[in-house]
Amino acid sequence: MNLPVRPRRLRANETIRAMVREHELRVTDFIYPLFVCHGTDVADPVGSMPGVFRYSLDRLPAVLDEVVGLGIPGIILFGIPAHKDAVGSEAYADDGIVQQAVRAIKERYPNLVVITDVCLCEYTDHGHCGLVKDGYVQNDETVELLAQTAVSHARAGADMVAPSDMMDGRVAAIRQALDAAGLERVAIMSYAAKFASGFYGPFREAAGSAPGFGDRKSYQMDPANGDEAIREALADVAEGADLIIVKPALAFGDIMWRTKQETRLPVVAYNVSGEYSMVKAAAANGWLDERKVVLEALCGMKRAGASLIITYHALDAARWLTGRA
Ligand code: PBG
Repeated sequence: MNLPVRPRRLRANETIRAMVREHELRVTDFIYPLFVCHGTDVADPVGSMPGVFRYSLDRLPAVLDEVVGLGIPGIILFGIPAHKDAVGSEAYADDGIVQQAVRAIKERYPNLVVITDVCLCEYTDHGHCGLVKDGYVQNDETVELLAQTAVSHARAGADMVAPSDMMDGRVAAIRQALDAAGLERVAIMSYAAKFASGFYGPFREAAGSAPGFGDRKSYQMDPANGDEAIREALADVAEGADLIIVKPALAFGDIMWRTKQETRLPVVAYNVSGEYSMVKAAAANGWLDERKVVLEALCGMKRAGASLIITYHALDAARWLTGRA
């Protein structure tokens, strides 16, 4: 054949492939999610997420030593409260589980970037992300509580707060509240493009946060919409967001790419619970090579424009990348 163009020339061996490789995963790309709960000596496995546990504060150092030892730069915290009520009181309580965890972690690991998920769904007895009146999740009243929650996390020492509720105007309200409290150095990592996804199932088991009635479609976005995600992201930029989360990740590479182009902010891919469980289940059955598919999927998120990746696979992936497995 007379073929002047032969792409295979640059795939001939691993040395050449490495020379022309366009994207590379690094351990510093990862943020590890952690569930924290009350009690002592608790490491309660999440049934649908093999390898993921709810930890009491005294059990955190064992995990965090590993996180830090592997070079993972940050964690995101989710709280399992002692008690849930209609207004999610423990979310914004000064001695809430996340507030306690942040203080303890920052004291022992001052250089670890601690991000907190800001939402009410783990703390409300109805499981919705905000206050409910007449069966509808109220926006403006909820935003006030979210701002209080963010300030209490930041006062405890959080480096970044990550509102995941999808109420309108919450980034502006949180920015204002943080600044008024003298916490202008605390960054907002906004879940700007968060879709009403089936992939959050295992997380809701982990946090006991499945909505008691209805669904989250009146606040989380329709997965069919791309332009709407860009409008959300641009609104959050105008309100003062420092980083933008796209969530879930696997089916939303286009949203990452577009968000990056439109906002020029660092984009964070959230590789969510269901995406993790799906791979774990297939790997446990011997149907997929876990290491190959995880590294491929995570690298795909970087190719799609993500600067950072929140993933339950962070420890596994960091071990694979550093050869410590
Ligand atoms: C809280 C929150 C959720 C997730 C992150 N923050 C649950 C939800 O919106 O239902 C999901 C994370 C995951 O599935 O890994 N609002």
